[in-house]
Amino acid sequence: MTKIQIPPIKCQGIKSKLVSFIKEHVAWQHNGIWIEPFCGSGVVGFNIRPKHAIFADTNPHIIAFYQHINQEKITPMQVRAFLVQEGKKLTEHSQVYYYQVRERFNESYAPLDFLFLNRACFNGLIRFNRHGKFNVPFNHKPNRFSKAYITKIVNQVEAVYKLCKMHDWQFVCQDFAETIGMVSKHDFVYCDPPYIGRNADYFNQWDESHELKLFEMLSTCPANFILSTWHSNQYRHNEYITDYWNQFHITLREHFYHVGAKETNRHPILEAIVTNYQAISSMNTCDVSQHQARLFENETNYL
Ligand SMILES: C[S@@+](CC[C@H](N)C(=O)[O-])C[C@H]1O[C@@H](n2cnc3c(N)ncnc32)[C@H](O)[C@@H]1O
Repeated sequence: MTKIQIPPIKCQGIKSKLVSFIKEHVAWQHNGIWIEPFCGSGVVGFNIRPKHAIFADTNPHIIAFYQHINQEKITPMQVRAFLVQEGKKLTEHSQVYYYQVRERFNESYAPLDFLFLNRACFNGLIRFNRHGKFNVPFNHKPNRFSKAYITKIVNQVEAVYKLCKMHDWQFVCQDFAETIGMVSKHDFVYCDPPYIGRNADYFNQWDESHELKLFEMLSTCPANFILSTWHSNQYRHNEYITDYWNQFHITLREHFYHVGAKETNRHPILEAIVTNYQAISSMNTCDVSQHQARLFENETNYL
């Protein structure tokens, strides 16, 4: 199995641990464009390494950060110098400095400040209030930006930087409807929308009208697609699977999300991928009840 390239930005619902599973189910000849309307951290597409790609999201800060890397306005060397300098101030002044950077970012929206906050904040959360201001608290950790941590982040930036140079990739800030409207038949679409009722972020609003619009658009999508969604957890089932997505092909996988503000959001979940084609995978598949038994009886193994 190839090593998964972890991106420099963290976000809720990041698919790092599910990339191999998703990748196994991609049915695509690579002769069109990889289209990712909800790219978030970008981890899925970055690991597919398509020649041509459109990475889109409505969060302007994620997109601006990757656009800066793509246009070489941010280089790995700059990232290192910035994190060394800012990390030193953070060590000296701790949370006082974190909140200064947060205030500075909420004035200027500088991409490097976004990276700093994303990697120093509580749980790698990306959360903005209704005025569009980043409001995640500080994650108290001594020597947050240690030499090793900075090197890790710089390497992650460098990997994306190199991938951008080698490929024709675009990063666009736009709504999913606009992105899916651009799809043609040789493309491949990977959709990972916010999960209904699980987010409280200004850039992550997702309700029934969004889900139904997505369903309508994917139902007439001219290309193959994968949709990531949740199937069930210990307490409930995703009614949109039963009412809508069931008309496509559904494959399940047990998963445990580590990034989440509330403990209640950190339970194991049955993750689903919905495809408009019969996915062929070498991975073991089993039925829903077997998955649920494995997932929920052994919940403590995940915690
Ligand atoms: C679950 S996250 C995607 C995670 C991503 N697949 C990853 O592994 O990092 C959902 C993303 O959808 C974006 N989003 C929310 N509403 C959107 C909309 N209407 N159109 C496009 N993107 C949207 C959010 O900003 C967020 O980055």
